[in-house]
Amino acid sequence: MTADWSASQYLKFEDQRTRPARDLAAQVPLDSPRKVYDLGCGPGNSTETLMERFPEAEFVGVDSSPDMLDKARKRLPQVKFMQADLARWMPPADADVFYSNATFQWIPDHIPVLQRLLQALPEGGALAVQMPDNVNEPSHRSMREVAAVGPWADRLKDTPREQLPTVQAYYDALRPHARHVDIWHTHYQHPLDGAEAIADWFKGTALRPYLDPLSEAERPEFLVQYKALLSKAYPTQCDGKSLLRFPRLFLLAVR
Ligand SMILES: C[S@@+](CC[C@H](N)C(=O)[O-])C[C@H]1O[C@@H](n2cnc3c(N)ncnc32)[C@H](O)[C@@H]1O
Repeated sequence: MTADWSASQYLKFEDQRTRPARDLAAQVPLDSPRKVYDLGCGPGNSTETLMERFPEAEFVGVDSSPDMLDKARKRLPQVKFMQADLARWMPPADADVFYSNATFQWIPDHIPVLQRLLQALPEGGALAVQMPDNVNEPSHRSMREVAAVGPWADRLKDTPREQLPTVQAYYDALRPHARHVDIWHTHYQHPLDGAEAIADWFKGTALRPYLDPLSEAERPEFLVQYKALLSKAYPTQCDGKSLLRFPRLFLLAVR
C-alpha cells in the first residue's frame, strides 16, 4: 500500500466503478442479514450499494485510509466506519456478511485472510469478494513498460502488483470452510474518452505506486509515455471513445 488514497480521484468514475459492486451484492444469497461488513469500503460507494440491496441490515465499513473514511462518514452519517488494516484485522463474530469490492488485490497473501473471515461467519453467512484481475491487461503492462525504461527504473523496479492466485487455489482454500463456493470472471468494457481518460481512471488506483515515488517534474513525463502506449493499445471506436477492457474476479463462499 502506498500513502493515503485520494477519495476525489477515485470517485471520478464512480458509476462505472460501482457496477461490479452492485453485481457482487446481487449475488449474495441472503434475504435479510442482520449485520453486513464492507471491507475496504473506500468513500462509501460500495456501502451505499449494499444498503440498497439489504435495506434492513446494520452496516459497518472498514478501511485503512483516513481520507476515504472521512468521505464515507460524510456520505453515510448513519453508518459506523472504522479504521483497520485488513491484513491483520481480527474479524468479529457478529457478521452475517463480509463483503469486499476492489480491495483484496492490494493485500498480498490474502488467502489466509479470506479463510479467517469465512471461519468467523455463522452457518449460512456469506463472504463475497470482487477483485480486478487485470495485471496482464495493456493498461498494466504499459505501466510496467514505462517504469522499466525511464530514469526512475531503479526506484520503481519492485512496484508491480502481484498476479492474483489461481481460481483453483481460491477454491481449495475456501471450500473446506464453506458449504458452497462460486467463482466467476466478468469482463467489463468501459467506454472512456481515450488514453487521457484511461490514465485518469488508474491515477486513483493502480498508477499510484508508480507516480507516488516520482518527483513533481517526473510525473508528467511518466504520464506522457504511458498515454502514448495506451493510445496504441486501445483503438478509437465509432463514437470517439475507447473501450477499457476490465476483467474482474468474483468469489462467493457460503459458510
Ligand atoms: C479501490 S478502493 C475500493 C472502494 C470501494 N469498496 C468500492 O467498491 O469502490 C480500495 C480500498 O481499499 C482500501 N484498502 C487497501 N488496502 C487495505 C488494507 N490493507 N486494509 C484496509 N483497507 C485497505 C483503500 O484504502 C481503498 O479505500
